[in-house]
Amino acid sequence: PQPYTLVLRNAAQVLTLAGGPTDRPLTGPDMASWRIIEQGYVACHGDRLAAVGPMHELDESLITPETTVLDASGQVLMPGLVECHTHLVFGGNRADEFQRKLQGESYLDILASGGGILSTVRKTRAASFDELLANALHHLDGFRRYGVTTLEAKTGYGLDADTELRLLQVAHEAGRRQLTQLVHTFLGAHVPGPEYKGRPADYLDLLAREVLPAVQGLAEFVDIFCEEGAFSVDDSRRYLQQARDMGFQLKIHAEQLHDLGGCHMAAELGATSVDHCDYLTPAGAAQVAAAGQGRTVAVLLPLVPLYLRQEKYAPGRQFIDAGLPVALSTDFNPGSCPSKNLWLAVSVACLKMGLTPLEALAAVTLNAAWALNRQQTIGSLEPGKRADVLVLSVPDYREIPYWLGENPVAQVVIGGQLV
Ligand code: NIG
Ligand code: FE
Repeated sequence: PQPYTLVLRNAAQVLTLAGGPTDRPLTGPDMASWRIIEQGYVACHGDRLAAVGPMHELDESLITPETTVLDASGQVLMPGLVECHTHLVFGGNRADEFQRKLQGESYLDILASGGGILSTVRKTRAASFDELLANALHHLDGFRRYGVTTLEAKTGYGLDADTELRLLQVAHEAGRRQLTQLVHTFLGAHVPGPEYKGRPADYLDLLAREVLPAVQGLAEFVDIFCEEGAFSVDDSRRYLQQARDMGFQLKIHAEQLHDLGGCHMAAELGATSVDHCDYLTPAGAAQVAAAGQGRTVAVLLPLVPLYLRQEKYAPGRQFIDAGLPVALSTDFNPGSCPSKNLWLAVSVACLKMGLTPLEALAAVTLNAAWALNRQQTIGSLEPGKRADVLVLSVPDYREIPYWLGENPVAQVVIGGQLV
């Protein structure tokens, strides 16, 4: 064995997220039965985890004068957060619509009046590459302070070929300029571009014919917003099939505001994740679990109904009991969730979706890694995985969702480097 480059020792608890099945995301009782080590350590060699265990098993002979040693007494160690659903790159903000919303206008009413997503599209098209990049880097900095070590970034505020490609290029450049690892998703099918108002199928044909070929190599995932005022289930199916045939992995925004059946359709196509799901029923969840063969992850976004002043939250408790794997994300975007606080999402998932703290922690680590097809390399503290580790300033995992809205992160390690 090689000497360690970094050792985090004496931790009150090490949340390994290890010990469950490795061939599928966690659900049912597995979501809460992964291994916690009391009085433990995590050792890294370079950018990889080398060993994780209780202090009495730490091989001191592998600690050399070159090893960085950090004392984590009274603190919790866990894998870096995997933020599996964000709309990272956009121009401007929508503070003006916050006021309209408070006066009672709904999300879809604001969109239908040319606001909402479309108002961000106007500001995004008008922004320069450098402005968009500076905004994205600012937001990534915020995410990193919250302990996000991997982040999925969607396009979707260009809605024409040139701007959508520019958004992907901005996201790639942002990925190169800092340490949080990015995963790229093409969401050109967010809503029909303003030039295609009332012609959603024509818009999707344009994307499939002219844009998807240009996006190959720049995005791993293709996503679509399946909703009234966006795209129907039938149009979404046809588009996702075309994307799959071109080699993209699939995601969908579905059952956010209505139960249209988009989640089931996408799971049948082998989607890696189905996202939002507030209107998905427990019976529907069992069907999604079966159609997705236990591998499709439901990505729940608890800060969105909160921010849209919606009563209905995805019944996450019943999803897990029905055998549907669940992940959690902020959905960071300028309209339905201008928050990067994934810890707050964890707390709200416990309070409003019925997840237990252990389930919610699995949902922002290992299951979120599954939602990005990164389960082999991140999401748990196991030798061989990337050394993405958080030191939290709490002595017990139960305090994580308890301190509502606080950031428990004391130190972030990305790829073996203290940042
Ligand atoms: O995931 N629901 C669709 N899209 C985003 C919101 C986009 C926006 O309002 O700007 C979401 O909530
Ligand atoms: Fe979203």
